[in-house]
Amino acid sequence: MKKIINDLSVFLSGENESKAIMFVHGFPFDHLMWTAQVKELDKEYLCVSYDVRGLGESPAVNGQFTIESFVDDLETIVYELKLDKPILCGLSMGGYISLRAIERMPDKFCSLILCDTKSVADDNEGRLKRAAAIKQINSGEFEAFIEPFVLNCFGEKFVKENNAEYRRVVDRSKKNNPIGVKGCLLAMVSRTDTTENLSKINIPTLVICGSEDKLSPPDVMKSMADKIPNANFVLVEGSGHMTPIENPPAVNKAISYFLIKNNF
Ligand code: MLT
Repeated sequence: MKKIINDLSVFLSGENESKAIMFVHGFPFDHLMWTAQVKELDKEYLCVSYDVRGLGESPAVNGQFTIESFVDDLETIVYELKLDKPILCGLSMGGYISLRAIERMPDKFCSLILCDTKSVADDNEGRLKRAAAIKQINSGEFEAFIEPFVLNCFGEKFVKENNAEYRRVVDRSKKNNPIGVKGCLLAMVSRTDTTENLSKINIPTLVICGSEDKLSPPDVMKSMADKIPNANFVLVEGSGHMTPIENPPAVNKAISYFLIKNNF
């Protein structure tokens, strides 16, 4: 079922009475990146996914976004749906939003799942790359920005063996409004570093990382997981940055096992 909440497109699957899991997607993707997880988990959980403002079916408007405004959006969805301490699951940019949401609202969620993401903010090289991306989009080369960016997100094996699915993700990403995409780049470049808060996270946390992830590599994610009290770290062998799409069985198994072990 689709709902519009505060202009955002929100998608619900599962029983209203079940424990809710909120899925926050990465950049420049949309809620459909969680399709395999929702299909598996909606038997036991109320799966809530949504398109982050500016991407997918959610409006870009003026593209003036920050991670803070994305956290406000997340909070509004939890409030409007009256979700009681949902599980929060974010990938990459969705992880930046989730880490900041947990820092701002430590009592709002019962559990955290971080896929292919990091707590550190952009360094100077990263900031310059974002600036170059905005310049490229402004010069009318939106698709030329999307194509290599998305390619870099996937592991080589997936692109070779699942090319049709990979192309579908690229083509969907190209359908985004360039204003929304630039807004997300500005939000990510201006995000705070959430590393200091990691040791204060006091809810069960699962950290999932693709062994071939070039954007949030295993050593970076392992060091983040080590700072979160009692976090579980799962490495998905052979996968790039897009673990939920590249290896759904491994990701679904890790999430299901983690949730059952923690009695959710
Ligand atoms: C993402 O997957 O959300 C992005 O690659 C994150 C980023 O560019 O930092």
